Amino acid sequence: MPTLILSKNEMRGLLSMPEVIEVVEEAFRDWTQGKGNMPPKAYLSVDQGDFRAMPVYLPGVAGLKWVNVHTANLSRGLPTVMAVWIHNDPETGYPLAVMDATDITAYRTGATAAIASKYLARQDSHTLGIIGAGRQAYTQIQAHAELFEIHRINVFDLSETTAEKLMQSFPEYSPRKSTLEEATTSDIVCTLTPSREALLKKEWVQPGTHINAIGADAEGKEELEPSILKEAMVVVDDIRQAAAAGEINMPITRGQFTVDNVYATLGDIVTGKKQGRIDPEAISVFDSTGVAIEDAAVARLVYEKARHAGTYQSLDLVDG
Ligand SMILES: NC(=O)c1ccc[n+]([C@@H]2O[C@H](COP(=O)([O-])OP(=O)(O)OC[C@H]3O[C@@H](n4cnc5c(N)ncnc54)[C@H](O)[C@@H]3O)[C@@H](O)[C@H]2O)c1
Repeated sequence: MPTLILSKNEMRGLLSMPEVIEVVEEAFRDWTQGKGNMPPKAYLSVDQGDFRAMPVYLPGVAGLKWVNVHTANLSRGLPTVMAVWIHNDPETGYPLAVMDATDITAYRTGATAAIASKYLARQDSHTLGIIGAGRQAYTQIQAHAELFEIHRINVFDLSETTAEKLMQSFPEYSPRKSTLEEATTSDIVCTLTPSREALLKKEWVQPGTHINAIGADAEGKEELEPSILKEAMVVVDDIRQAAAAGEINMPITRGQFTVDNVYATLGDIVTGKKQGRIDPEAISVFDSTGVAIEDAAVARLVYEKARHAGTYQSLDLVDG
């Protein structure tokens, strides 16, 4: 039996943001209702960066994402984050497909943050702050534009060229090059840097702001002053992963925050076990570490589309 092989270029034609948002929200609902299995990510550090192995089962798919984070790659003309997905039949274990998951990662990360914003941000949010204008920033904008009427994007990046490039890609949302403080005063703020020290100051965050803290996805990383978390309604994708590697990891290590201070998981919110935003003045934070159910849901969708099309390359990769 052949194994489908899907390249990065082919994935581009198979990914659509509205569909990704739908299947990722469904995956959080299913997983929270016990329909799935996801052990914590395994990290492998090397001097230049790190790798993560992310195994997962959801109805109809078992799989593994193997993904790296190498922050010096931009100067080499390579993405910081690259990924491969192995797609197995849960019935037999057969490897049905091997696909590039670099864009799956970017799409599902954008989609998950936008889903968090849907429940946690004010519905009248019209300005989007982008702090860190690299690869993940593009899909944050695409996903939020599906669910909100975006009037302006405030962009901050240490690299002016990177900020300019992002702004040129989205002229329809009146992008403006901003200071870190200006970007932080947006209705919805997405932090997307590999920072290991707090960038956002509590005094800049306006009442009613929702923050998607995306960049901190490994031990030692953080982007927000801990005092922001202390006052905010904090929602995580996965409590164990967030405590070990998310935005709350360093405040927990320093004794400034505990897991008991977490309000809910995103799954609790999408299933209605916990309410989303009630108070228009509240500050909310979604701590995103990235979970494999997001990848599995998107890969399952892509695999079904590619299989039905019947036009993609395949290989007799293993006996069968
Ligand atoms: N939570 C998740 O699911 C998830 C998924 C993918 C990536 N990530 C993380 O998100 C971060 C960004 O990933 P990416 O693929 O966009 O990387 P990238 O290298 O393409 O972009 C990062 C950008 O941040 C900018 N930057 C670095 N330090 C900064 C600072 N102090 N202030 C402002 N800008 C700064 C860089 O100039 C660069 O443009 C990484 O830390 C990555 O590990 C998280």
